Amino acid sequence: MKKDSYLSKKVQSVRPSGVRRIFDMASSVKDPINLSIGEPHFDIPTPLKKEGIKWIEAGFNKYTPSGGIPELRQKVIEHLRKKGVMCEDAIITPGVTGGLLLAFMVVLNPGDEVVIPDPYFVLYEYQIQLLGGKPVFFDTYPDFRIREEALTRAISKKTKVILINSPNNPTGTVYTKEELQIVARVAKKRNILVFSDDIYDAYVYDNEEERIYMGALYENTLTFGGFSKTWAMTGWRLGYVAGPKEVINCMVTMQQYVFSSVNSFAQKAALLAFDYDTTNIIQEYRRKRDLIYEGLKDKYVVQKPKGAYYIFPEVPGGDGDSFVEKALREKLFVIPGSVFSKRKSHIRISFAQDEETLVRGIEILRKLA
Ligand SMILES: Cc1ncc(COP(=O)(O)O)c(C=O)c1O
Repeated sequence: MKKDSYLSKKVQSVRPSGVRRIFDMASSVKDPINLSIGEPHFDIPTPLKKEGIKWIEAGFNKYTPSGGIPELRQKVIEHLRKKGVMCEDAIITPGVTGGLLLAFMVVLNPGDEVVIPDPYFVLYEYQIQLLGGKPVFFDTYPDFRIREEALTRAISKKTKVILINSPNNPTGTVYTKEELQIVARVAKKRNILVFSDDIYDAYVYDNEEERIYMGALYENTLTFGGFSKTWAMTGWRLGYVAGPKEVINCMVTMQQYVFSSVNSFAQKAALLAFDYDTTNIIQEYRRKRDLIYEGLKDKYVVQKPKGAYYIFPEVPGGDGDSFVEKALREKLFVIPGSVFSKRKSHIRISFAQDEETLVRGIEILRKLA
């Protein structure tokens, strides 16, 4: 039998991530000013690193239960309930990436639709497609707010999930209580599940005390959180998902077949992480947010980020792809907005960098405007 390719049709239909071409270009630039990075610029806090090492040395290096160690599952539930999130159970997963995969796996039938505000974090689209679902985007430009009319228009009989991400990658938007209530109202009326990717929940810069979680407003929410962003454990691969027992139970079963279990020692260190005070880190990132916003606001059309560590300005001329190529010629590496959106008018700049690099980046961005 003659084959054109050994790859499955499904895989072939998923187009390669647009970042790759830009990363190829960027890899040829020596010592770029890198404002493209999606992870904190600091290392795991020392006490948490030491806790991980302690458990490695104590021999805690074997498989753990499929749902995660019971004490961490319990800690996640307590942590979220303190924030008002309604959750019956929680599972520990290999990052939010692994949590999303398992969640889509257990809820999507072929052709089921997942409604997502555009711009959006890039992997949602591909995971949904790989699992036979269909991502349906609704536009939130120019201010990246959720409007009931736009959301409702995207809903169909096939909608199974509404997926939101706040604080948002790539825009830095934090949804207000009113926006979350819109999502809750629309979802409840049609008995739709909500996935709330709250991975940047610690990175909120203004009115932190008013911050509301999606899971506090609607019980059929899966709340996704993790240790990658708040405690810089990106390489330790640890996250969690909390929500209705029926869904979480099924994800635990699936985890057995898909990942077996997750990183052992990182789970022990994560028990300490919840009690580790991150106030100084957030203050430092608030200063970086102010620095970049003040540096760009008179030259670009740009929203002030309220959370996460990204800013998403519109570029002059409206072609983010060619802007990024121009920036690379000046040694500046940022990501085209088209990676995160059906539009290409914007770029994503990460301010998870040291201040000196950030200042050099801002200078080039002002020059390019
Ligand atoms: C919005 C969002 N969700 C999920 C992830 C994946 O995080 P994890 O390291 O927990 O898999 C990222 C990482 O950049 C992200 O930005």
